[in-house]
Amino acid sequence: MDNRPIGVFDSGLGGLTAVRELAAHMPNETMIYFGDTGRVPYGGRSRDTIIRYARQDVAFLRTFDLKAIVVACGTVSSTALTQLQAEQDIPVFGVVEPTAQQAAKVTRNQKIGLIATRATIRTGAYEQAIARDCPQAEVHPLACPLFVPLVENGRTQPGDVVIETVAAEYLAPLKQAGVDTLVLGCTHYPLLREVIGDFMGPSVTLVDSGAAVAHRVCSYLKEQGKDADQAQSGCCRWYVSDSTEGFSDLASIFLGRPVTEPVEQISIETY
Ligand code: DGL
Repeated sequence: MDNRPIGVFDSGLGGLTAVRELAAHMPNETMIYFGDTGRVPYGGRSRDTIIRYARQDVAFLRTFDLKAIVVACGTVSSTALTQLQAEQDIPVFGVVEPTAQQAAKVTRNQKIGLIATRATIRTGAYEQAIARDCPQAEVHPLACPLFVPLVENGRTQPGDVVIETVAAEYLAPLKQAGVDTLVLGCTHYPLLREVIGDFMGPSVTLVDSGAAVAHRVCSYLKEQGKDADQAQSGCCRWYVSDSTEGFSDLASIFLGRPVTEPVEQISIETY
């Protein structure tokens, strides 16, 4: 048993889709969430900048006594996970491997679509991870740079003509290619599940990276006997790098529950 918190971070609010899944699997855990809302999005930035930002995010989280860190960001997971794991003395989980494994497991025709940020697509990390489990898979990667800003602005619902138009334009080639599985390789994208699902149709399975990493972390903690005491009720503490105004309202949408805990702004550049 280990009652220390789990640290979770993302460039912004997308990682909250992983927090939602973590809390659903492990309701007794305490989580410290950092969203780098002052510097989001990371997905169009250079590798060096993403690594520098990720190190600062981890340095902030390590000011707490944590048992594990979840990189709830496809961009950081694909670009900086190896460095972060080498530098930390606690387990650091990324989204790429568990998500790729899930995609390899569910595909029936071995045609897998991958949507993610430009930075994630540039690394080829998902393709490599999928190839390890399903060497015959044909992966169709596609960067969708407009999705993150639209999600951060709450433009996620079916019937919203802006998101529906952007989604249709991005996703048409993947539909055309006949993929039967679509990896939501960015933790912001599960918020677009309905819009994406409506466009791709019911025969395409959507694989959510937040859910996949949550499942992995849960199995690991249980196997290691490091899950929290069942008598402890889980809670979350929220930190952001930009104004806290509006965080609770938008975060409630990502989490699917009202955010009632306090939110604190920190100065991430000092870490
Ligand atoms: N949630 C991040 C990801 O999974 C968003 C990327 C961004 O900040 O551009 O890649």
